Amino acid sequence: MRAVLNKLEQASQLDRVGDRIQRGIWSALPRRWMRDLLHGVWLGHPLHPVLVQLPVGAWTASAILDMLPGQRRASTALVAVGTFGAVPAVLAGWNDWASLSQSQRRVGLVHAVANGIGLALYGASLGTRLSGRHGIGRILGWAGLSAASGGAFLGGHLAYKMGAGVNQAVPEMHRIDEGWHAVADLGALPEASLVTRKINDVGVLIYRDGENVTAMLEHCAHQGGPLGAGDLTKVDGHVCVVCPWHGSTFRLDNGEVVHGPSATDQQTLPTRTMGGVLEIRLP
Ligand code: FES
Repeated sequence: MRAVLNKLEQASQLDRVGDRIQRGIWSALPRRWMRDLLHGVWLGHPLHPVLVQLPVGAWTASAILDMLPGQRRASTALVAVGTFGAVPAVLAGWNDWASLSQSQRRVGLVHAVANGIGLALYGASLGTRLSGRHGIGRILGWAGLSAASGGAFLGGHLAYKMGAGVNQAVPEMHRIDEGWHAVADLGALPEASLVTRKINDVGVLIYRDGENVTAMLEHCAHQGGPLGAGDLTKVDGHVCVVCPWHGSTFRLDNGEVVHGPSATDQQTLPTRTMGGVLEIRLP
């Protein structure tokens, strides 16, 4: 299984179709608010894993009810809930997929195809059940659950092995020692500019506005992009940094994400000035 997954990660022959789908998704979701909505920026958490709970739960429950006598109506209702409930999860998943790295997109493509087959089988199962052919509906449902389970396995591989949808910056905090770390003379820090420093080899982004200095981890929560090479912008009056890789935008005063694809905030770090020296520590 490991060998198969490794091959899939390196299957560059999937890139042509993947690139086309990626362009299609971006033209189908031209407005930034649409993409932010589906990423889960408003929630502060990726939306796709939240939305998949409904179809997975409903379909699994229907598969169990299909093995019990006298449960046709309940099972059909659950198949309907899972099938219609899968649609928003599919939309959120494709939206997240479009901003993944190439090897993640390859695995994500097969994950989406497997789940798409599962959804189609459940759609057919619902149709046959509603037309009274419950025996075929049950078989189609079990086949759909098998396909969706294969898709879920690849989804787990994407998240846990490949780090898709996972905050890429926060694990770096484990490499920062406890206590205050002197990083710069306050007077030497330029105002309204992005400055980077290292603490225990971990990049930290510093922004000074007069006497106020804020700091956050430099690597972007989305895919680890270098925020120190990003642009400054203002959103709703708040100064923000825009990640140079995929455009995630974070408030510099509190790390809040205002535009995706990151759905999580950027981790900020407490600062203080002692004898004119800026110090930073872990929260
Ligand atoms: S790495 Fe993707 S937005 Fe920063």
